[in-house]
Amino acid sequence: MANPSEHLALLAALRWQIAMGADEAILETAAPRARKPAALQPERPAAAPEATPRAAAPRKATPHGEAAAALAGTANTLEELREAMAGFTGSPLRETATNLVFSDGVPGAPVMVIGEAPGAEEDRQGKPFVGASGQLLDRMFASVGLSRAESLYITNILPFRPPGNRTPTDAEIALFLPFVLRHVALAKPRLLVLAGGVAAKGVLQSREGITRLRGRWHQVSILGGEVLMALPTLHPAYLLRNPIAKRDAWADLLMLRRAMNDGGIGAQEKP
Ligand code: URA
Repeated sequence: MANPSEHLALLAALRWQIAMGADEAILETAAPRARKPAALQPERPAAAPEATPRAAAPRKATPHGEAAAALAGTANTLEELREAMAGFTGSPLRETATNLVFSDGVPGAPVMVIGEAPGAEEDRQGKPFVGASGQLLDRMFASVGLSRAESLYITNILPFRPPGNRTPTDAEIALFLPFVLRHVALAKPRLLVLAGGVAAKGVLQSREGITRLRGRWHQVSILGGEVLMALPTLHPAYLLRNPIAKRDAWADLLMLRRAMNDGGIGAQEKP
């Protein structure tokens, strides 16, 4: 018979398989292979892992970039940051988006997840990760005992939907980065999860692609000098299109769970 920790691991593996759709095999009628997603609105297509493998070289400060950094620095609470971002006029994305998508989950939660940018459904509801990839994200984290109701705080690199769900440009990522770093400093998570290449590239300022960055912890310097540990992983939208990659995402989630159980990052997992 399994001991309690084996039991938990088996349960987590079972939840993961269900999250991955293993139970679809037992529908009463066979599901058509080329089924369209149920969502009415197009889902954000997270960039393929290596589509943008090289990070932008350090960019020259632009007037809008300086304004973003100055504005982000004035916010002393999450609510002030939300207001500052809503009032920021330095990006044309604000004109085409319906809503500012600021965050969801529990401020102060131990894990903060940073995604790419809102899709159509997120733009409509003003909340991150509420479309099909958000549902997968919820199931992935649930399989290691984490939820946005209790233990996750979620945001994106861009707070506004790029028209047509295109991939954010390097200039857009750089422009909004001061807001993202201020967001992290104010939300005070213990650990960061960077979902997809855009988040990893932006926050880690790395030239490497997500498939090289994922699966290990990286140090991130947050404004104010604090250093946090960040775990890049594959974006759920990518996993929806490439189910074979889900095993790598599962390995990353187990690393996250271990780090939380240890109260930090295990020595062998430190960069
Ligand atoms: N993809 C993201 O990266 N963020 C969202 O909020 C939704 C889809």
